[in-house]
Amino acid sequence: MIADIGKVLFHESTILARLDEIAAEITKDYRGREITVVGILNGSCLFLGDLLRRIPLPLKVDCLAVASYHGGTKSTGTVSFRQHELPDVAGRHVLIVDDILDTGRTLAAVKRTFMATGSVESVHSCVLLDKNVPREEDVISDYVGFTIPNEFVVGYGLDYMGHYRNLPFIGVLTEEAIARQGASLH
Ligand code: IMP
Ligand code: MG
Repeated sequence: MIADIGKVLFHESTILARLDEIAAEITKDYRGREITVVGILNGSCLFLGDLLRRIPLPLKVDCLAVASYHGGTKSTGTVSFRQHELPDVAGRHVLIVDDILDTGRTLAAVKRTFMATGSVESVHSCVLLDKNVPREEDVISDYVGFTIPNEFVVGYGLDYMGHYRNLPFIGVLTEEAIARQGASLH
């Protein structure tokens, strides 16, 4: 698995040091509010766990399973919600947590869905990575761990064809690894 990584972008210690900073900001901004943190599965799983344990505020946690990639390295353009029921967020301040902001479709769709409930107090977002690309959706994230170039990354929750999520760091796959696994798609 490690042999498939061509370049490490962020080591675990770098990620965790940045999480200390973001969590401190969130803790300051949300003190005294009724927060529901909503993690977007599966990509945010590791990020969510490490972030949450750094926020010493009373809060609720929920998750939403959303997919836009369906296995490849390019967004398919459709965002599908894999469950029918949204968490009950009436009167609550929602903080959406996702692994990466790419085209912005996922975050825009999830934000719209919560806003449409009409009963939420506020909806903000926190992403670990922000790809520096022109956005198809006019969406920004309120909290960002790192801004990265337009490369396909894996590790620390991010996957390629379902693999690599358990790497403790974030890296770029080799062309060979992408070609080898991509070939099994066809
Ligand atoms: P968006 O809807 O295009 O912004 O895509 C966001 C979702 O696509 C994220 O939640 C990720 O699951 C996935 N994604 C985007 N870029 C990458 C990447 O470089 N590696 C792995 N997953 C990615
Ligand atoms: Mg995802």
